[in-house]
Amino acid sequence: MCGIVGYIGKKEVVPILINGLKRLEYRGYDSAGVAVLTGNGAHSKRVLGRVAGLEDALQGNGWQTATIGIAHTRWATHGKPSEANAHPHTDCKGNIWVAHNGIVENYQELKKALIEAGHEFKSETDTEVLAHLIEAETEKTDNLFNAVRHALSHVRGAYGLAVISATEPDKIIAARNSSPLILGIGPEENLVASDASAIINLTKEVIYLDDNEIAEVTADSFRVESLEFGPHGSEKRVKHPETIEWDEAAIAKDGHAHFMHKEIFEIPEVIRNSIRGRLIVEEGRAKLGGIENHKDELRDVERVLITACGTAHVAGRVAEYMLEEYAGVPTEVDIASEFRYRKPIFGKNDLLLAISQSGETADTLAAVKEAKEKGVTTMGIVNVVGSSISRDTDFGVYNHAGPEISVASTKAFVSQLIVSSLFTLFLGRQREMSLTMGKRIAEELKQLPELVKVVLQQEDAIKAIAAKYKDMPAIMTLGRKYNAPLAAEVAIKFKELCYIPAIDLPAGEMKHGSLALIDKDFPTLAIAPVDSVYEKMKSNIEEIKARVGPIIALTTEGNDELSQYASDVIYIPKTLEMLTPIVAVVPLYLLTYHIAALKGHDIDKPRNLAKSVTVE
Ligand code: G6P
Repeated sequence: MCGIVGYIGKKEVVPILINGLKRLEYRGYDSAGVAVLTGNGAHSKRVLGRVAGLEDALQGNGWQTATIGIAHTRWATHGKPSEANAHPHTDCKGNIWVAHNGIVENYQELKKALIEAGHEFKSETDTEVLAHLIEAETEKTDNLFNAVRHALSHVRGAYGLAVISATEPDKIIAARNSSPLILGIGPEENLVASDASAIINLTKEVIYLDDNEIAEVTADSFRVESLEFGPHGSEKRVKHPETIEWDEAAIAKDGHAHFMHKEIFEIPEVIRNSIRGRLIVEEGRAKLGGIENHKDELRDVERVLITACGTAHVAGRVAEYMLEEYAGVPTEVDIASEFRYRKPIFGKNDLLLAISQSGETADTLAAVKEAKEKGVTTMGIVNVVGSSISRDTDFGVYNHAGPEISVASTKAFVSQLIVSSLFTLFLGRQREMSLTMGKRIAEELKQLPELVKVVLQQEDAIKAIAAKYKDMPAIMTLGRKYNAPLAAEVAIKFKELCYIPAIDLPAGEMKHGSLALIDKDFPTLAIAPVDSVYEKMKSNIEEIKARVGPIIALTTEGNDELSQYASDVIYIPKTLEMLTPIVAVVPLYLLTYHIAALKGHDIDKPRNLAKSVTVE
């Protein structure tokens, strides 16, 4: 996701900030910028594109005297990637500069009030609201620290924040809520960063800010307080620097051995980010900014045609079950490379829904263009803001999963399922879905991060299963209904990560050929949570057992009966049937990850594959 670095000390700040940004490049970004303070006030430079471009643009700037500044690499969430939307953002006077990671949920209402109060906005971002809010609060309070604190009391959402002001040029203010931020403590210099890798060349002594904390950092001191006022006013927080032991490569991966592992462990946070500000639980409704203006058009949709590739296509297959069962909308799913070449028959009220993490997959993009050519309304569920598919579709919803670096898609898949659930709520409540059902889905969606955390705690047990099966020659993966697509998703992972041939089937199809493969050396992974098709799955499991095929079963906590058939059982907590794949996929990602790790494969970059397939 976005990256922040800030410095205050005795050294020339621009080279330090550029170096810090380069160290954050691995996180993925679309634009970059710096803001510094000199004796002449604040100065800033922002560019669309690479940090190297920013470095070039900063040549000959004459800011050598600046020893305080903040910098940012942006990965767009609100507002397209552009110079104007790049951070840092400023207030009306250009005094206050803000670099922000996270999402201001209520930015639209805050922006409206600020515009009414005379503030002028220069970008489409949620972040700019923060600069103007701080400006407004500065007029009511005597210092920047308190102005930031008061400003944040109006904000709903997530933030890691670094703020400087030309009127108080000897400090950086930092604050955190749900978006990581650390202080780097050095001799006669201090730093602020979203990620230790940005500053590790300067100091290994860091202070981790906790949620709802605000810090004031000068060249030779720091103080941390609670953001909110307690009964006795502000609460001071005693913080001691900790020494970072990891090497640089480990820091980029946040201590994880691979990006894939890191991204699996980010899933609870990704779910929160994909849902943030979009669920109105008490009304059992989803509010999706990108499609809110197309409500009427969407009410008239008679058929949804989903098109996508790879893992995104699997997400589409799960969405098909959701949309038909809960929104009552006929839905079809097609692989984009097929869709674009056959002659799809479009109806007047069809909606083409393209799902794509990158937003650049050539076949998916071509399918969108083909549908548009035929006059069909197009919508995207896309992770990368400003990508081709997000621009070419008529409207859409962003995933907010953050950049995904591992070629094998994990957290983006989960976010695609979350957005599909939200879209199902959106369409369903326009149609026949009751308030009670809407509320039920909304409430269950909110529980998901905690359920996924429970699953992640089982990693050691899953690793032991991985060790047992790592040398298997091939595997069959089975599921039904919502989990039939999941069998396909885990088969992709067996192939791309473990290089193990995998046959995935909706379990009912097993008898039509593949059962002939089963013997004592051919394992099956059976995804069998206790749901409306559990008894059917159980019968399939019994049939495999009768042919002495080894079985790894996945089922719901508390259901002990599968242990009599399966050699190994993975348990997941109970959730609504429609949301089960979101929880069930997590242990299966861990399983395939650990098999690949034990085989010594290049997990983040599997052989022959690419993250974004931009050619046919
Ligand atoms: C590649 C990636 C997959 C991804 C697929 C579709 O094959 O390795 O992880 O699912 O492309 O990509 P998209 O960016 O359109 O979701």
